[in-house]
Amino acid sequence: MIPMKTILIIGDEKDFDSFQKFLSQRRLFRKHGFHFKTVDYQAVLEGKLPEVKTKKLIVYLFFPFNYWDKHIETKKSKEIYGNLNYFVKFRKFWKKIDKILKSFYKDKKIYFINRPDNVYVERDKERTNRILAKANIPVPKHYSTRDYRKILEVVDAGRKLFIKVRYGSMGKGITYLEKNYWLTNFKSKNSYIISKKSDYGWKFKEITGNKKFLRELLKQDVVIEEAVNSFLLKGRKFDLRVYIAFGKVLYIYPRSNEYNKIITNISQGARGEDAHFLNSLPHRLLEKTEKNALRTVKMMGLNFAGVDIMPDSDYSAVVIEVNAFPGFPSMTDRKRRFNLSKYIIAEIARKKWK
Ligand SMILES: Nc1ncnc2c1ncn2[C@@H]1O[C@H](COP(=O)(O)OP(=O)(O)O)[C@@H](O)[C@H]1O
Ligand SMILES: [Mg+2]
Repeated sequence: MIPMKTILIIGDEKDFDSFQKFLSQRRLFRKHGFHFKTVDYQAVLEGKLPEVKTKKLIVYLFFPFNYWDKHIETKKSKEIYGNLNYFVKFRKFWKKIDKILKSFYKDKKIYFINRPDNVYVERDKERTNRILAKANIPVPKHYSTRDYRKILEVVDAGRKLFIKVRYGSMGKGITYLEKNYWLTNFKSKNSYIISKKSDYGWKFKEITGNKKFLRELLKQDVVIEEAVNSFLLKGRKFDLRVYIAFGKVLYIYPRSNEYNKIITNISQGARGEDAHFLNSLPHRLLEKTEKNALRTVKMMGLNFAGVDIMPDSDYSAVVIEVNAFPGFPSMTDRKRRFNLSKYIIAEIARKKWK
């Protein structure tokens, strides 16, 4: 069989959590009759792209780790993590990639798994929340005020709030406020906000009553939203990472933490659960989770994504965030291994690409 289509995978070698896992399954593309090519972002930026012989070219974009570390979240950066500048640089990068690919392969019919001119949108937590709320998908209520007195009125009235950096990820730069109990995982010195350089170990500490810190935080690019009252399973707080490709739920990965912990990011110490954990979730909550996740990717214009959903105590499946570059599940862990790449590739192969 002569291949009619080429798949081009773009990613950086240090991305062992998704790109490398996906690459390890490349033989499956050949089995499905695709030409297979891969290249890193540095080469793309230099215009060193592989030659493609087929008319149809499918491009799959992974996270540009090298570019991110070198030009966006740099070790030297004095900026507070997750501010607008991170997003501006990221968007610029993708516009560049979009232009290079479209001009280099101008005589090809290019299809994207996720389009470079759209793949960065989910990084903006405010915009994502607005898009989903407009589509009547359950999302946390957002507050637009940045007046700390108004915020404190809300908190004193008994509401619990999350203040998160608007363009952040991995559970970094999160503050939690409830009456007489404030926590943040930013570091602070004399109430100035300091971002930890590592991706890991962002620990929460109590800052109850530190109005100066709160005022500083509210000057940053943040989102302020009501806390979801997490449904508890086995006494634990959890969220569900729903992996979706081409309108199909491929896998649901529960991540849990002790009920009194603030976040459920594995990067900050929460734990992954296996399928048994899901068995005790009420069926209608699981159904709502799948339905809301599917509607979410559709509204975001993504063919592949991980949607994070937190079921709440009112049996609503609330969308917390969307990841166009989710980490992939483990393929070796005996208790909860899942070869996500294999299922994504099957979906890519099943599609007609017309
Ligand atoms: N509104 C909320 N209510 C309850 N928990 C939340 C809320 N927002 C975030 N969290 C918790 O914090 C974690 C990190 O928030 P998220 O928006 O996913 O940011 P990040 O992009 O840093 O992962 C979530 O996985 C969840 O456990
Ligand atoms: Mg998250």
